[in-house]
Amino acid sequence: MKTAIIYVSKHGTTEKIAHQIQQGLGLETELIDLKNNAHIDLSPFDQIIIGGSIHAGMIQNSIKDFYNKNAVSLLEKRLGLFISCFYEGEIAQKQLEKAYPEVLKKHAISIKVMGGEMLIDKMNFFEKLIVKKVVGITQTDSKIKIENIQEFINEMRNS
Ligand SMILES: Cc1cc2nc3c(=O)[nH]c(=O)nc-3n(C[C@H](O)[C@H](O)[C@H](O)COP(=O)(O)O)c2cc1C
Repeated sequence: MKTAIIYVSKHGTTEKIAHQIQQGLGLETELIDLKNNAHIDLSPFDQIIIGGSIHAGMIQNSIKDFYNKNAVSLLEKRLGLFISCFYEGEIAQKQLEKAYPEVLKKHAISIKVMGGEMLIDKMNFFEKLIVKKVVGITQTDSKIKIENIQEFINEMRNS
């Protein structure tokens, strides 16, 4: 089955997660960074996975533009959706709910929060200030949820 993992990543965490999904799904899985690919031909793919990260409660606009422009094609494919974010539990779930439209969430085979990382070395001055003030974080920290990535891979493979 041909799969495209279409993602956007600010500091590399969503990209890292996308790579792990690619490894789990195997050979016919292509990684596509939306930053470098404005127009993507979805026709060769049976399965599409979309992943973005959450900043100030929102997924990237480029992810929203992508799914809005391609909604009809996406509904004809097997679909998986995920986010990378640092918050956990109910807040993370609400961020996931808000990140994708109802029609795509209903159609998706798997939808998951994959956790996230705060990579202080990659942040600019303002980002450091925001994460210190809002989350109280001053040092690099990782909360990637390996078990959710594995569940996502299993669900995309088996359903
Ligand atoms: C400036 C800034 C704002 C953030 N805002 C949120 C947020 O509102 N909610 C959240 O759960 N995580 C937030 N995060 C954490 C990111 O979602 C997390 O670092 C994610 O793994 C980033 O993935 P990326 O490097 O692929 O963009 C924020 C991080 C930064 C640097």
